[in-house]
Amino acid sequence: MEKQILNALNARYATKRFDPEKKLSESQLSTVLDAARLTPTSYGLQLMKVVVVEAAEKRKALLPYSFAQKQVVDASHLLVLCREKIAEPAHIEAYITNISTTREIPEENLEGFKKMMLGSIADMSEEAIEIWMDKQVYITLGNLLNICAFMQIDSCPMEGFQVEAYNKELGLDDLNLSAVLVLPIGYRSENDANAKHKKVRRSNEDFVVRM
Ligand SMILES: Cc1cc2nc3c(=O)[nH]c(=O)nc-3n(C[C@H](O)[C@H](O)[C@H](O)COP(=O)(O)O)c2cc1C
Repeated sequence: MEKQILNALNARYATKRFDPEKKLSESQLSTVLDAARLTPTSYGLQLMKVVVVEAAEKRKALLPYSFAQKQVVDASHLLVLCREKIAEPAHIEAYITNISTTREIPEENLEGFKKMMLGSIADMSEEAIEIWMDKQVYITLGNLLNICAFMQIDSCPMEGFQVEAYNKELGLDDLNLSAVLVLPIGYRSENDANAKHKKVRRSNEDFVVRM
């Protein structure tokens, strides 16, 4: 098991060239999306969504706002990991209702938890809330990178895109969302020279501090 984990993590790499002919099955996509949904978040609030962009014309329109990184158009699917544009008390209300229904607990019993969450966002500046939401999206990215590696699906984590332009092109403002990260997923092209590059990482001695 340990060996399989390390093999998968060594085999994955930030894929620069995808094979546009190779597509993920619906079942594979569904597993990847479930893995994203199962990612833990602060309080469990999930102030984020995953937008799946499949349509070729939409992806072509995103290319100029992605520093012309071709992964955006060539990968099987383009995942845009988004946070809520504004965190509102309504999100907390909806979460409390979800806990109540899922776990069959009366909402009154969750009053303390609700007040604590409402209080904690009330104490934060708008910017601090945005950074906090962004962090949850990065946790989801980490989870997705690993899940894709285990499923032998190639991926490329991407911060190299223009947030405002993505929001506009994909109509994310209307969904109360803002793009944080982009993750093209699919299969590497045989011509991706990057696949052969040795991993560059700090040595164990330099990376781990044991006390
Ligand atoms: C948050 C994040 C943003 C990244 N943004 C880009 C990007 O915009 N374009 C790209 O080609 N690679 C991007 N990368 C890939 C990194 O350069 C790559 O993961 C790193 O060099 C390690 O190499 P490896 O993933 O191939 O092992 C990004 C990686 C992370 C984690």
